[in-house]
Amino acid sequence: MKIFNTRSSLQQYLSQKRSEGNTTGLVPTMGALHKGHISLLAEAKKYADVIVCSIFVNPTQFNDPKDLEKYPRPIEHDIEMLINAGCDVLFNPTVDEMYQPGETWHLDIGPLESMLEGKFRPGHYQGVTQVVFKLFDIIKPDFAFFGQKDYQQVKVITRMVDMLHMPLKMIMCPIVREPEGLAMSSRNVHLSTNERANSILLSATLYNVKHQFGKLTIDELKQLAVKELTSNPNIQLDYFEIADADTLVPAKADTQHMVALVAAKVGNVRLIDNIILN
Ligand code: PAF
Repeated sequence: MKIFNTRSSLQQYLSQKRSEGNTTGLVPTMGALHKGHISLLAEAKKYADVIVCSIFVNPTQFNDPKDLEKYPRPIEHDIEMLINAGCDVLFNPTVDEMYQPGETWHLDIGPLESMLEGKFRPGHYQGVTQVVFKLFDIIKPDFAFFGQKDYQQVKVITRMVDMLHMPLKMIMCPIVREPEGLAMSSRNVHLSTNERANSILLSATLYNVKHQFGKLTIDELKQLAVKELTSNPNIQLDYFEIADADTLVPAKADTQHMVALVAAKVGNVRLIDNIILN
């Protein structure tokens, strides 16, 4: 696997590969890789000739400086995982390589920015679009792979790609779960054994809602989920919503495609999860 820390060296390598007729697939990550990321790489290999994984803990998408500071950065282990997964290229830039001092960014992505996650993490999606725009601009992938776990993030980036007519195809890959149901996330390493046991209620509730879907009304499903999630005093619920799978506005009885989304804090760890209902 080739490792690049600068934009120019990566761009030089990729333009050579492109001129030889190869397509490029990008898996953008913040590192602390797990099986979820590896599944994105496996999917990418089905679509593209050259697979690039980026590892960059993007400071502009963190609202809490403590969260940024404690974000896991096991780079040696990540490199080993990428080699084992057959990744071709790792792009691992520094903050200075990615950002100019005093740089600003604003992209109007409409209501998607301030609903659900956006409400609890103001500015988060500006930071995400800022860094993903840069990665797309540097790497010019033909395909980009994102996990369904960050469902709203996929919708936000797809909106940016559509609005700016970016010439790439977005691929959303299914959530990879621990055997007990917990959605894989780099943040899971911060969960204690007890917290991990409590956090299973998130996916269990989503599966229950999917099971009851079509038998109960949307309001009844929401009530059932909130009741289940708030029955555990160790879980601090931020939101549970059943939304239109495209726009993420709250679903109505006649909404065609629906997704249930949940966010909650378990101890100090904030977890998100979702399930596509139909
Ligand atoms: O999902 C993530 O890990 C990050 O939000 C992303 C897409 C790599 C941008 O920093």
